[in-house]
Amino acid sequence: MEMSQEALELKSYFQSYGQGHVFDYFEQLNADQKDQLIEQLKGIHLEELDGLIQTHVLKTEATGGMDYTQLSPSNYIPYPTNDETQALWDEAEVIGKQAIKGGRVAAFTVAGGQGTRLGFDGPKGTFEIAPISRKSLFEVFADKISRASERFETRIPWFIMTSQLNHQATIELFKDHAFFGFDPESIHFFSQELIPSVNLQGKIILEEQGKIAMAPNGHGGSLRALSKSGSIERMREQGIDILSYFQVDNPMISCIDPTFVGFHVMNQSELSSKMVAKTYASEKVGLFCNYKGRDMIVEYSDLPQSYQEQLAPDGALLYNAGNVAVHLFDRDFIERLGNESSEEKLAFHKAFKKIPYYDGEKGMLQTEQNNGVKFEMFVFDALPKANHSIIVEGLREDTFSPVKNAEGVDSPQSCKDAMSRQALRWLNKVEAQVNSDPSDETIVTVEMNFRFAMDESDFIDQWNKLETKPEIKDGCIIGE
Ligand code: UD1
Repeated sequence: MEMSQEALELKSYFQSYGQGHVFDYFEQLNADQKDQLIEQLKGIHLEELDGLIQTHVLKTEATGGMDYTQLSPSNYIPYPTNDETQALWDEAEVIGKQAIKGGRVAAFTVAGGQGTRLGFDGPKGTFEIAPISRKSLFEVFADKISRASERFETRIPWFIMTSQLNHQATIELFKDHAFFGFDPESIHFFSQELIPSVNLQGKIILEEQGKIAMAPNGHGGSLRALSKSGSIERMREQGIDILSYFQVDNPMISCIDPTFVGFHVMNQSELSSKMVAKTYASEKVGLFCNYKGRDMIVEYSDLPQSYQEQLAPDGALLYNAGNVAVHLFDRDFIERLGNESSEEKLAFHKAFKKIPYYDGEKGMLQTEQNNGVKFEMFVFDALPKANHSIIVEGLREDTFSPVKNAEGVDSPQSCKDAMSRQALRWLNKVEAQVNSDPSDETIVTVEMNFRFAMDESDFIDQWNKLETKPEIKDGCIIGE
């Protein structure tokens, strides 16, 4: 059968960039497969991809790396330790509450990643994490944001970024659960773009005869996707100028944190970030550093070991400001960086990966060695581009316990334990009696219903309003 005009034009376009091989098996495909391949090819920014291949794959000379002698730890606003600093935090809280009540803040979850390390089949947000109710990550966020809307008597919209690889499954989950009680009009799903993976010779990888190996373009792709999906426009129409950004893998965060918002507003910040103190030198978190006068995040895999281990005079880690991927973005700043033709757009990084591929003779093959390159943008590369930025310390116990690995560190179990400990800590603040059998050495597990209280101060208020205090014992959900 003759190739359609559209297919012919695409073929010559791909050939002009040395990628004509993507049509090698075209004649063997059925009509549907041909249509699917054509759709996939039409979505590829070949010019941009070619630029990346030239600079990141084919160019062999080393690019000038970082001059680490120019590196120093970033300054940050530390957690309050005395009356004076507490007064500043109280002031920020008041200002933040005003901004939230004024409808200026929306929540934003990046959930486009593939979650390969966890070994969970399905969108990561559908992973059941609450220690007793087994609510999913998405439901925990839904509860926290709903409670924030109720507490601040406003409607806080929720933007969720998926990728085409998990978009439909994510929406199905929300539909199956009646949007977790959220007003469907206030949830906005959109997909980030995918970008082809290439082999070590810079050729686009086919994973099947008629399918290109594509991967999400990194969480940095969220800035483009927010612009392209019309989300920025929607924010503008609704008077929202602050986007509270967090990752789908960390249910500990405060989705809407009044004090953090207050510091952002007080400092006219374009990008505010939370840090937590690192617990040990080799912890796998990016680090806030100052490089030639600008704050930035240096990824754990990039910072030399000696820097990771360096100590300050007081014996603490010198580079201790860990990135928990919690940010507040100014809307206009996103718009500036999310514009693909902007000079300030984010750069891509490359990662060598094992990518299954189609071999003309042997069919589909897995590989034991890195055979390809994936390209990703990192959202924190926006930090040095911000005109004003601040970094605020968060308490790890209320900020960070991500679900990354199937077992051990940063696993579902460590996160469930952290969630239970957080609830026990809040209960301790109100001097609630926790009934446990002293002869029983197992730790008491309790769960906070975040629809009841979204953070510690909210919990104290809510608890004090209860006429009869519930009995707290192992296995109970507080605020049900
Ligand atoms: C990331 C940060 C690290 C930080 C740590 C905190 C990077 C490169 N590093 O590490 O500095 O200390 O989180 O937990 O990000 N995602 C998308 N689309 C993508 C890729 C990822 O939405 O294309 C989302 C994922 O769904 C997930 C998040 O981004 O929510 C984190 O991605 P992941 O690759 O797991 O980052 P880490 O290596 O854990």
